[in-house]
Amino acid sequence: MCNAKILSLSEAYKDYFKIGAAVRVEDLQGVHGELLKKHFNSITAENAMKFGEIQPVEGKYDFDKTDKMKEFVLNNNMGMRGHTFLWHNQTPTWLFVDNNGNQVSKELLLERLKQHIRTLVNRYGDVIYAWDVVNEAIEDKSGEQYRDTTWRRIIGEDYIKTVFELAKEEINGAQLYYNDYNNELPNKLDKSYIMLKDLIAKGTPIDGVGIQAHWNITDNNLIDNLRNAIEKYASLGLKVQITELDVSMFNFENKRKDLLEPTSEMLYLQEKMYNNIFGTFREYKDVVNSVTFWGISDMYTWKDNFPVHGRKDWTMLFDINGRPKASYDRAIKF
Ligand code: GLA
Repeated sequence: MCNAKILSLSEAYKDYFKIGAAVRVEDLQGVHGELLKKHFNSITAENAMKFGEIQPVEGKYDFDKTDKMKEFVLNNNMGMRGHTFLWHNQTPTWLFVDNNGNQVSKELLLERLKQHIRTLVNRYGDVIYAWDVVNEAIEDKSGEQYRDTTWRRIIGEDYIKTVFELAKEEINGAQLYYNDYNNELPNKLDKSYIMLKDLIAKGTPIDGVGIQAHWNITDNNLIDNLRNAIEKYASLGLKVQITELDVSMFNFENKRKDLLEPTSEMLYLQEKMYNNIFGTFREYKDVVNSVTFWGISDMYTWKDNFPVHGRKDWTMLFDINGRPKASYDRAIKF
């Protein structure tokens, strides 16, 4: 099939998977708003739905931004990913402290989490097709399986299972995901596989795994690793969603700051990368049901300041003016 003449990404991929973007409330208007309407059929709140943003103080929810996102989703016939319930970052400190200033009991923490999940599901559940129940629980350092977090210390070793069970009681009709970065790389894949296999063996209600996909143009092993990871996760009966895709011009160690625009070599490598990545996603369309970019265009993404402060990056399929790049052509022509 040749989709060269189809100009909308989500239209080109309608028989494959959803095409999503992470958004700030400002992105619902202007150039980004137009790009969203034309090319995407799913959104994720880049920050607005994180615990610390939406319930910064106990019982005081800030629904404003997420309400606007939901309205946009409804008006434009889209879906939304819920991101995220359990995470070690962007989580408010009140959650872990009781009224006497002591660390909360396991029971109180779970009760607070349940209330939080219930509130968000009541308000947004109708537009959300997948929730990230737990984000980034695997430890990066070799020799250790789980990240040491306050959640884990209070709830205990079985906390991931417990939290998925709790979420399942509140959530109807949406898929439940475990989401992480680098979980296509061999070491972290092994740990993820062990964790997921164990969760499934114990009957945990989990539907799939999110591969964040914060990638770069220089990784020559990416496609082999990705294939291997998708196959291993699928062998457990899990679905895969690509949840935070970007292709940086710089590998993590690269600290250069001198560029005002990407070199033609960089753009070429990015094109090739997007071509191969999307080819692989298509190959595994029976497993991969959603592909979300962590941004919309090169006008703004979180990579503009990370990991090198003040450095511009150009990770997306659309350029700083929202125009399609050669990478876009490679992703859409198949
Ligand atoms: C992680 C989180 C995302 C986001 C990125 C950085 O991947 O899952 O929500 O915070 O870090 O933008």
